[in-house]
Amino acid sequence: ACSLLFLPFDLMLANVLLTLPQPPTITHQSPKDFIIDPRENILIYCEAKGKPHPSFSWTRNGTHFDVEKDSKVLMKPSSGTLVIDISGEKAEAYEGIYQCTARNEHGTAVSNNIFIRQSRSPLWSKERKEAIMVQVGVSLVLQCRPPAGLPPPIIFWMDNNFQRLPQNTRVSQALNGDLYFSNVLLDDTRNDYICYARFPHTQTIQQKQPITVKVLDMDAINETVADMYNYTNNLFVGEYSPSGERRPSFMAPLGQSSTQMALRGGVLELECIAEGLPTPEVSWYKESGDLPSSRMSFHNFQKTLKIADVMEADAGDYRCTAKNSLGSAHHTIKVNVKAAPFWISAPRNLILAPEETGILTCRVSGDPKPQIAWSVNGVPIKDSPKDTSRKVEDDTVILSDVQTGSSAVYQCNASNEFGYLLANAFVNVLGESLETQPLNLPFRIRILSQ
Ligand SMILES: *[C@@H]1O[C@H](CO)[C@@H](O)[C@H](O)[C@H]1NC(C)=O
Ligand SMILES: *[C@@H]1O[C@H](CO)[C@@H](O)[C@H](O)[C@H]1NC(C)=O
Ligand SMILES: *[C@@H]1O[C@H](CO)[C@@H](O)[C@H](O)[C@H]1NC(C)=O
Ligand SMILES: *[C@@H]1O[C@H](CO)[C@@H](O)[C@H](O)[C@H]1NC(C)=O
Repeated sequence: ACSLLFLPFDLMLANVLLTLPQPPTITHQSPKDFIIDPRENILIYCEAKGKPHPSFSWTRNGTHFDVEKDSKVLMKPSSGTLVIDISGEKAEAYEGIYQCTARNEHGTAVSNNIFIRQSRSPLWSKERKEAIMVQVGVSLVLQCRPPAGLPPPIIFWMDNNFQRLPQNTRVSQALNGDLYFSNVLLDDTRNDYICYARFPHTQTIQQKQPITVKVLDMDAINETVADMYNYTNNLFVGEYSPSGERRPSFMAPLGQSSTQMALRGGVLELECIAEGLPTPEVSWYKESGDLPSSRMSFHNFQKTLKIADVMEADAGDYRCTAKNSLGSAHHTIKVNVKAAPFWISAPRNLILAPEETGILTCRVSGDPKPQIAWSVNGVPIKDSPKDTSRKVEDDTVILSDVQTGSSAVYQCNASNEFGYLLANAFVNVLGESLETQPLNLPFRIRILSQ
């Protein structure tokens, strides 16, 4: 019954709020990191609402971006969204850090920094074509080493006929794209080990020059060693490697232990690849606590352990064991979990009557602990006009005895080395315009709105 009693009032209030002045609120913006396809127009979103409707402007690389002066750039009407026509232009000319500002007489809201980069799929550098000769039984790594694309390419190994090369516990592709053999068989001899890189944005596939592998048995070795000095373009691998049965040892990572960092909310991929004959099997164990079974999966014939949606508790020592009939080897990966800033609670818009007190809080966590920087209408608080009714205490801004005319948009930027979170929250101090409303509003109101 109580809520029924208040409903008509809420409705009336909602109507009043619709007609009240309101500082700008950004409603839509492009992602912070934005990789563009050079064949399409660039769309950089910035939409905002407010009363009166805000006007928009942009900065690029920190200075004013004069949209009017560039015939290739169009700003959508009553919006800040930019459409950049890059046909016939070098898309690189528009790379940079963009920030949108939405302004009306009651305040200024700012967007994230939108980092625009063009996707890239550079060509594979030409390499000398060398045959790799190995003694049967030794371990082998075929390097892929694709060109650094943006975003990075997807790697796969195929033969001349576009058939995937078979993978198993003995032969598999590592996370870096290289093809690892725990030991080679005579059957591994072929001249078409081809690494392909698929660049997702440009839909292009690039092919590395085929690699030839010749696996030699003991009889062939002595002859080849002699030949080797005569044909310098032949690379002989494994002359001193063990080729008989042997216990496992790790090819990647090397040594007894290694460390790896993961970000909270991200994906952790741990990899252990071992050589040995017979082919070793890899298994995993977490030294301090259990593996998180619900978020965890094994890939690549147990050589990769993947943990999704990483949490702080995933930090610790992970031990991989490679085992065959002759023995075993261990490697420990020490995992540290860090965190880009994340919200506990973002500041919320405040609507205040004159003389009221309001509090904005920007509760974030992260590892390392985020630094908090406040701005008012896009200007750092320390550089903006003094206001004695305002007190900043780390993650809190206290506004006491607010006055008509001190409406503004506050920005809280919480950052650490792994990223930042920017929130805009307005403080709308209702003034004379209220008194002209036909409604008899209560003496003091305080409403949280979105
Ligand atoms: C902005 O800065 C980036 C990196 O410094 C540079 O590559 C780019 O060309 C700059 N963009 C413009 C439009 O000046
Ligand atoms: C927030 O602060 C960080 C650290 O100073 C800075 O790198 C980032 O660009 C800021 N973000 C915005 C949108 O101003
Ligand atoms: C290869 O040469 C070594 C000496 O250099 C010899 O002891 C061995 O028997 C030879 N092996 C074969 C299979 O010819
Ligand atoms: C390698 O070259 C040397 C001279 O440099 C020659 O005597 C020998 O017969 C050559 N061996 C082969 C296998 O061609």
